[in-house]
Amino acid sequence: MKRIKTGSSELDEIIGGFPSGKTILITGDPGSGKTIFGLQFAYKNCLENKKTVYISTEEDAAELKQQGKSFDWNLEDLEKKGILKIIELAGYRAMEIKTALSISMDAIKGDFSQFCDNIPDDTDILIIDSLGSHVSNLTSTEFRDRFNLLVYSLAQKGITTLVLLGGVISKEFVELALYSAYGAIQLMKRENPYTGLRERVMDIVKMRNTKTPVQLLSYEISKNGIFITIPIESSG
Ligand SMILES: Nc1ncnc2c1ncn2[C@@H]1O[C@H](COP(=O)(O)OP(=O)(O)OP(=O)(O)O)[C@@H](O)[C@H]1O
Ligand SMILES: [Mg+2]
Repeated sequence: MKRIKTGSSELDEIIGGFPSGKTILITGDPGSGKTIFGLQFAYKNCLENKKTVYISTEEDAAELKQQGKSFDWNLEDLEKKGILKIIELAGYRAMEIKTALSISMDAIKGDFSQFCDNIPDDTDILIIDSLGSHVSNLTSTEFRDRFNLLVYSLAQKGITTLVLLGGVISKEFVELALYSAYGAIQLMKRENPYTGLRERVMDIVKMRNTKTPVQLLSYEISKNGIFITIPIESSG
C-alpha cells in the first residue's frame, strides 16, 4: 500500500506513514494540537510536491499562516507557488447560527458536499479543520450517512485526508466517525504515572492495514512543531 508522510518523521518511522488516499481522523480536546498536526502534515507534504488544500472552518488564513510562522513554516510561500491552497469557511458557523434562527433548517444542515465541491481535481492532500460546528444540527443517522459519503467521495478521488474533529462535536458523532474512518489518532494530555508530570500523548486508535503501537506515544510541541519524544513503553 502506498504511504503518505504524516508530517512527523518519528511517526513515519513508527507506522510507515498514512495509508494513501484514505481518510484519517484526528481527535482531541481544545489546545491538544490538532491544528498544528494538520498544518505540519500540510507543510511537509507540500515540500514533497503534493497538491494540498487546507479547509479552515474556525480560524482565518492569516491566523494559520501566523501559527505556521512560529514553527518556521512559510505557508505564504507555498501558496504563492500554487502547491498549497487555504480555504476559509470561517464565516460558516456564524452564517449557520443566523440561518438556524430564521427559517430553513434543511438548507444549513451540515452540508459536507461544500468540502468536496471546493477542491480542485488534482488535489493530493486535504485537511478539514475542523468538523464540529457544522454538524450539531444533524441527527446521528444524518451525520453517519453524510460522513460516510464524504469518506467515500474522497477515497474515489484518491485524496489523502485528515479530518480534525473539534471539541464541540458529540461523543456519539465521534464514535460514528471513528467507525467509518480508515485511521484515527487521539491527541490528549495526561499525567505520567511515573513522573507525576502532565504530558502530551497520542493514541493511535486505529490504522487499517498498518502495524500500530498499542502504547501511547508522548509528544511535545516544540519550535519545529509536533515532535514525538519516545514511546512511553516499547511499541508494537
Ligand atoms: N509556537 C509554539 N510553540 C510551542 N507550542 C505552541 C506553539 N503554538 C502553539 N502551541 C501550543 O499548541 C496549543 C494549540 O494547539 P492547536 O491550536 O493545534 O490546538 P487545537 O487542538 O487545534 O485546538 P482547538 O480545538 O482550539 O482548535 C497551544 O495551546 C499551545 O499550547
Ligand atoms: Mg484547532
